[in-house]
Amino acid sequence: MKQELLYEGKAKQIYSTANPDEVIIYYKDDATAGNGAKKAQFEDKGRLNSEISRMIYMDLMKNGIKTHLIKSVNEREQLCHKVDIILLEAIVRNIAAGSLVKRIGLEEGKKLNPPILEFCYKADAFNDPLINDDHAVALGLATHEELDFIRGEMRKINDYLKALWLEVGIDLVDFKIEFGRMKDGTIVLADEISPDTCRLWDSKTGEKLDKDRFRQDMGGVIEAYEEIHRRLKDRT
Ligand code: TMP
Repeated sequence: MKQELLYEGKAKQIYSTANPDEVIIYYKDDATAGNGAKKAQFEDKGRLNSEISRMIYMDLMKNGIKTHLIKSVNEREQLCHKVDIILLEAIVRNIAAGSLVKRIGLEEGKKLNPPILEFCYKADAFNDPLINDDHAVALGLATHEELDFIRGEMRKINDYLKALWLEVGIDLVDFKIEFGRMKDGTIVLADEISPDTCRLWDSKTGEKLDKDRFRQDMGGVIEAYEEIHRRLKDRT
């Protein structure tokens, strides 16, 4: 099944398969923060994130969102359509937290209605800076029409995800998603959706059940991911 290692990122490896249009994505146990400045390994994180992301993707696909996912191969690996990743981090914020609080001084926990949508340029050399549509077009990342389409998908995905997380007692604070282009140019949701890429707060207690536990040295990282996994699994 897995053939050559095509690409290794901070949390995943991408392998070729016998079909040139399909890849296998392997979820590692590595965790990084601050553009790789902080590193650690958490046993089982890869398996938990792969399973969490798969359950979320299945739900989005049921609701008509087009994604790169074909099927899971095992608990740590997914067979996906090969896409060219668009070098944008698409961020949706429902509650103020993280870099938004630091950048413009909104109070952490303030509800954002309507949600704030942001694009960052995926470029480690520049520390993934916040950019606007004109920057993205000038960089040749996407056209204005494509950016409008992506924003529409971000809003739809946010609506589905907010409802899904609420069902399992979680407030979706914010999240980052990525998109890729298939061979025919269709833009689809790609990359993972997991506690590594979302801020997830328990609706009743406000407890943080996501990667902020690692970023802020709070401890209990894997326990939080296990809790998220358990709640999603119990739902299905
Ligand atoms: P931020 O507040 O640090 O900008 O993060 C917003 C959301 O995006 C948060 O849920 C974490 C996620 N995120 C990633 O998944 N990868 C990244 O590289 C960054 C900067 C944020």
